[in-house]
Amino acid sequence: MHISVIGTGYLGATHAACLASTGHHVTGIDRDPDQIARLSEGTAPFHEPGLDRLLREGVDGGCLRFSTDVDAAHDARVHFLCVGTPQQDGTGAADLTALESAVDALTPLLDRSCLVVGKSTVPVGTARRLAARLQAAAPAGESVTLAWNPEFLREGQAVQDSLRPDRLVFGVADDDADRLLRQVYADAVRAGVPVMRTDLETAELAKVSANAMLASRISLVNLLAEVCEAAGADVADLTGILGLDARIGSQFLSPGLGYGGGCLPKDTRAFVARAEELGVAESAALLREVDAVNQRQRTRVVESAVAMLGGSAQDARVSVLGAAFKAGSDDVRDSPSLHVAAALEARGAEIRVYDPQAGERVRRTQPTLTTSASVEQACRDADLVLVLTEWEEFRGIDPVALADVVSHRRVLDGRLLLDPEKWRAAGWELYALGRGRR
Ligand code: UGA
Repeated sequence: MHISVIGTGYLGATHAACLASTGHHVTGIDRDPDQIARLSEGTAPFHEPGLDRLLREGVDGGCLRFSTDVDAAHDARVHFLCVGTPQQDGTGAADLTALESAVDALTPLLDRSCLVVGKSTVPVGTARRLAARLQAAAPAGESVTLAWNPEFLREGQAVQDSLRPDRLVFGVADDDADRLLRQVYADAVRAGVPVMRTDLETAELAKVSANAMLASRISLVNLLAEVCEAAGADVADLTGILGLDARIGSQFLSPGLGYGGGCLPKDTRAFVARAEELGVAESAALLREVDAVNQRQRTRVVESAVAMLGGSAQDARVSVLGAAFKAGSDDVRDSPSLHVAAALEARGAEIRVYDPQAGERVRRTQPTLTTSASVEQACRDADLVLVLTEWEEFRGIDPVALADVVSHRRVLDGRLLLDPEKWRAAGWELYALGRGRR
């Protein structure tokens, strides 16, 4: 099937490459010429394991192409909308400008029966509005239908999550749309991936609700971590105990610096904004607290770092290990780690950042921060080392060797990665978020 994918960021590029790998002819469209140039060469513009290989195979095999010109989408039977829906300045609501312009650019091309499928994360109610707008303006009128098919991929595991998701959600208005989507995802459906058919509104809500649940879980575990610290309990043991309850489960139960990235923070705020519009403000206040607890973890790390430096960060050399919002990705959007780095820099500290993948992005987005090429380089003469992203590389740091590199053996573990006994035995003062100094 000829399929177009409009918007080739993390979501769209992965989706396009995965669809091509299952035998479709896919055209990816984006207005960013640099991104399109790289994708056309079969290279991902961001770090995502396994994606380069799929892109190269698709491009070389002739079933995957990219263009900045939306006209290239003309012949597609199915058009996926994968553009970003960032947070509006000043309010928590989602900014739908890019999505609306994508729909407006596509509409005049739709002169035959086709299916437009929204994948972007949107406030509930958007799909129905867009469907009416499409059908009113498209040359093919009511032969153009709209479906909503949210995406649940995690950065760092995006390819695997796209090819074999936990579930496929089809928000459709009729059987034809359902049939067509089953053809698009024939490979996953054959492999037994469950399909949940539902209406447009439920499909839109599925995505933001999943992210609201995940965000709440992290803030709840971070609340427990704060209580553990205050009471002298051990949050790692506690989450181990909780995780064995089958109703709770052990995934997404890691305490620390909290969630960041391009999805959970903004989706939680947009959910609250939309719930308030729908008259559910009082109960939605729960999610405001989820956000507040999450932001507080960043403040806690800044304050703890300053305390470890003896009360002032002025002229202190602080090495920040980890810049990506999570391990496995080079994405630094709303990165808790960079938030902490910038706050300490504002208090006069001299910061050096090392991240196994995100160095280039740090230099582009936060040019005042100095980046280093290795753990050792970032830690040379440091007064304090902060471990802020859960990269495996940091778990393997040898505290004995690093002790000779730094000025002061002080380390703050914001992700419970380090073995306290080993570090203390090597003479380090160690503070772990949620565990304190135990
Ligand atoms: C998240 C969701 O997990 C995906 O299902 C969803 O599709 C995606 O958002 C999206 O909306 O597009 P992602 O942002 O890639 O995916 O990352 P997660 O693995 O969910 O991690 C989010 C943040 O939570 C990271 O900063 C991570 O370090 C933090 N986290 C995660 C914790 O602090 N503790 C945990 O136990 C798990």
